[in-house]
Parts: sequence; C-alpha cells; structure tokens
Amino acid sequence: MIWKFITFFVKKLDPEIAHKLTIKFLRLGIHPRLKQSVFPVKVGDLIFKNLLGVAAGFDKNAEVIDKVHFLNFGFTEVGTITPVSQYGNPKPRIFRLEKDKAIINRNGFNNLGMLEAKKKLENYRKRFPVGSNFLVGVNIGPNKDSENRFNDYKVLAENLSEFADYISVNVSSPNTPNLREFQKKENLEKVINFVKEGIVKSKTLNKKLPVFLKIAPDINKKALISIIEIAYSKKIFGLIISNTSSHRDSNLKSKKSYESGGLSGKPLFKKSTDILSLANKIIKNNNYKLFLIAVGGVSDSKTAYIKVLCGAHLVQLYSSLTFEGPLVANKIICGIHKLMIRDNIDKISDIVGIIDNPEDAMKIANNGFNSH
Ligand SMILES: Cc1cc2nc3c(=O)[nH]c(=O)nc-3n(C[C@H](O)[C@H](O)[C@H](O)COP(=O)(O)O)c2cc1C
Repeated sequence: MIWKFITFFVKKLDPEIAHKLTIKFLRLGIHPRLKQSVFPVKVGDLIFKNLLGVAAGFDKNAEVIDKVHFLNFGFTEVGTITPVSQYGNPKPRIFRLEKDKAIINRNGFNNLGMLEAKKKLENYRKRFPVGSNFLVGVNIGPNKDSENRFNDYKVLAENLSEFADYISVNVSSPNTPNLREFQKKENLEKVINFVKEGIVKSKTLNKKLPVFLKIAPDINKKALISIIEIAYSKKIFGLIISNTSSHRDSNLKSKKSYESGGLSGKPLFKKSTDILSLANKIIKNNNYKLFLIAVGGVSDSKTAYIKVLCGAHLVQLYSSLTFEGPLVANKIICGIHKLMIRDNIDKISDIVGIIDNPEDAMKIANNGFNSH
C-alpha cells in the first residue's frame, strides 16, 4: 500500500525529477525488501537469477545495482555510458504520456562518463564479483561530439569489460544524431571489431565476454536480416530488441505525443514484439545461435509471456517501473510462474520462441495453450 502511495506521489512530479528522486530513494535504502524468488534461467553459459531485468537508461551511472536486487529483478543493465561525461539535451527532455502509459525521452546520453561509472562498478564488484548470481550488463555508446565514435566503443569496452557479465552495444538511441547509422553493414562490422578489440585489451579474464547489440524497432525486414547475419558471423551473443521508437502512432491520446524523442512503454509493445518475432523466425530458419532479450512495453506477466513465446530468452523493462512502481518486477515474476503452472510448463526455456506470430502468442497468454 505504502509503495502504491509513494508511486502515486512521485508520478505527480516532473519526470526527470521523479527519476532523480527514485535513484536517491534507492541509494538511501528507501525501497521494498522483497523475499527474493529465484527462477534461474540459463542463457548460454550465463545463469540469470530470473528472466526479468532492468533496461538501460534507468541506472545510467551504475549507482543502484545492489538496490535493484531487492525488487526481484534477475539482472540489470547499467548505462548508456559514454567515454566522457555528457549533459545531454536541454531540459525538459522526458515526457510522461499518462493516458497512453508511455514515455517520450530525448535525453541524449546524459551520464557522468566512463571514469565515474568505473568507480561505481569497481566498488560494486568488491562486494559482488563478476559471476555472482545477479548479473550486470554494461551498455556503451559514443559521445555526441566525439571525433571517432568507433574508437569510443573500443575505449569503453577496454575500461569496463572487467566489471561486466555482458556488454550491450547501443547502436540505436534515437537521441544521438546519426547513431542508428551504426546499424548499417560496414559500420556495424567496424563497431563490433572495435568492441572486441577493447575486450581483448581489457583486464577481463573472459576474453569471450558475451556481447549483445541493442537495436531500434524502426527497421525493415531487410535491415533486420543484415543485422542478424553480421551478428551471427561476428559471434555476437545476442540482440536486445528494442530501443525506443522515433515513430508515432496516430492513436496516441496524450497531448505530449508530438514531442520529439524516443517513445517507450505500452505503445511500443506491438512494434518491438513484431521485430522480435521476425528476428526469432530468421534465427530459427537459419539455425543461427543468437539469444534474444526483449524490451518494449512489458508491464505485466502476460506481456512478458508473449515476449518469451515470440523468442525472448530474457525480458527487460523500464517505463512500467515508472507507471506501476517498485513492485512491478515481483508481480511479473510471480505472474509468469502462475501462467507456467496453468500451462503445465516446467521450464520457461521450453516455450522460448515456439509461437510464430504475436497475435497467437497473445491468445495463449490470455487463455492458455488449449486456446491455440
Ligand atoms: C527515460 C529513458 C531513458 C533511456 N535511456 C536509455 C539509454 O541510455 N540507453 C539505452 O540503451 N536505452 C535507453 N532507454 C530505452 C530503454 O532501455 C528501453 O529500450 C525502452 O524504454 C523500451 O522499454 P520500455 O517500454 O519497457 O520502457 C531509455 C528509456 C527511457 C524511458
């Protein structure tokens, strides 16, 4: 009850102030302390405590990793971290679309930079070394005014890999001009080469550190096939689908929907799930080994279940933490467990990607496998 009240109050504030306050609350230890249920998920050699993680952008400076343990998330992804600290775009730059359960942000990689993040990660790793049961992804991206953005990825990988359970390469934020050009073949190959060089030069003992590419939802089939082929040939571990969208549906109700930036939350669900499902089919048809993390509009156990049925080995969320409050992960994890009991599923991995289109997945999530 108290958390519902606090969420209600925090939602009345300007979104950026609300976010700052939330991080402050977490740092001060003002958060729920939930009994931690463990539903381990094995993805390659990585074992996640449960399948639900905090998406990038929430803990940009790696400040509250140990606190989100308590909220029943299975992992977190810190960042996006850039080499040098960056203010980002002028404020206001985050907009809450209450009626649509959506957010538009045009932050532009505001963060304290690699060295500050490194200090935080170093400190965290003294208490929870790499390989502890709560995994941490480190999301990296270039500075807006960098003279060599490719090199930024290398420098970041070189400095931060030793603290990461996986690296997430952000080539998809809509708020750094031209960043999405890095999804194109030659650029993407070069980015991956630079990241891998950085990992080899870093202090990590695991020179085969898993690397995910985080991609945009605003791409066509041809572009997706190209990304998947490059990812497979370059031995990328997986894709994170997706970042926020620069497109707007005409049926958004909130006045602020005209603001520029990336759209997340409920209206992103269909778009990101369509791309996820397509990626799942391409990967299956070609027998490629690539893991998928789904993110975009997950707000309850059914939306998370749909993502799994459409190909997600892991799921992340951000916007619904804002709308539903700090108990959302716990609700989703307990809800998925109930859906598995209803559907007689022993292991979540048994249903990953078994359904070929999101509409059928939705019917199953709502009514069980017999409805299919
Ligand atoms: C305020 C805000 C800031 C974000 N910052 C980042 C970021 O720095 N790096 C990144 O890869 N994604 C960032 N994202 C995108 C999220 O990680 C996620 O991909 C997207 O919001 C879709 O998930 P959701 O619908 O659950 O929010 C941000 C999202 C929001 C709402």
